[in-house]
Amino acid sequence: MKNNEYDIPYHVAIILDGNGRWAKKRGLKRSLGHKAGFENLKELSSYIFDKGVKILSVFAFSTENFKREKEEVDYLMDLLVTKFKTLIDKNKNIKIVFSGKREDLSKEVINAINEIEEITKECDSKIFNICFNYGGKLDIVEATKKIVDDVGKGLIKKDDIDENLFGKYLYNSIPDIDLLIRTSGEFRISNFMLFQSAYSEMYFPKILFPDFKPKDFDKALEEYNKRDRRFGGIKKDK
Ligand code: IPE
Ligand code: IPE
Ligand code: MG
Repeated sequence: MKNNEYDIPYHVAIILDGNGRWAKKRGLKRSLGHKAGFENLKELSSYIFDKGVKILSVFAFSTENFKREKEEVDYLMDLLVTKFKTLIDKNKNIKIVFSGKREDLSKEVINAINEIEEITKECDSKIFNICFNYGGKLDIVEATKKIVDDVGKGLIKKDDIDENLFGKYLYNSIPDIDLLIRTSGEFRISNFMLFQSAYSEMYFPKILFPDFKPKDFDKALEEYNKRDRRFGGIKKDK
């Protein structure tokens, strides 16, 4: 989609990283970094959707993040239960969906997730995909199990399985990521959406997530617009 001078990516994904270091720099507890990160996410996601982005995926908690201290994990869970509802913006017609393994989460967390999804389920203009207790490898493994089940039940045939059908079995059937941003200066994916990032343009700003503001997102868009997306083909005419 064109927005004045820019090509606006259809699907943007952000690995929200650097909350802990943001807090440490200020002599604060890590949890206060997560609080600041969440407040930033609210502002930033709203700005990103206003720019015309149709799908925004964010990595909020990985399956591996359970390795952290209980106090920090509890704080992140509590943030979801008490604050994530404030991300709902029905005026913008945004459907919120969650991707990740729900079975390992507490009843309170699962209820909050279900409630947010229920409230926004009829919204059909944009999608806010929140990856929570999410692992890219696990997503692929669980999709494979569901496919095997459906083949066993005769619902699909082995020969029906292609990239398109496989994508539909992932936690949420969402098109590929166009622009993938990871804040905080780490140059890795950390088990984020592996299947959907096959051809994403990657952008790794050094900024810690609570400091990543709309103007920084605009810089990411500028950079995205300089990229030549070839998808294995030959340079496209701009
Ligand atoms: C990202 O910030 C948020 C989560 C992983 C939940 P971090 O908590 O990883 O922050 P750093 O990387 O320690 O600075
Ligand atoms: C990735 O960040 C997960 C989220 C942002 C939720 P981490 O901080 O957990 O990743 P590593 O440990 O640096 O790879
Ligand atoms: Mg981190």
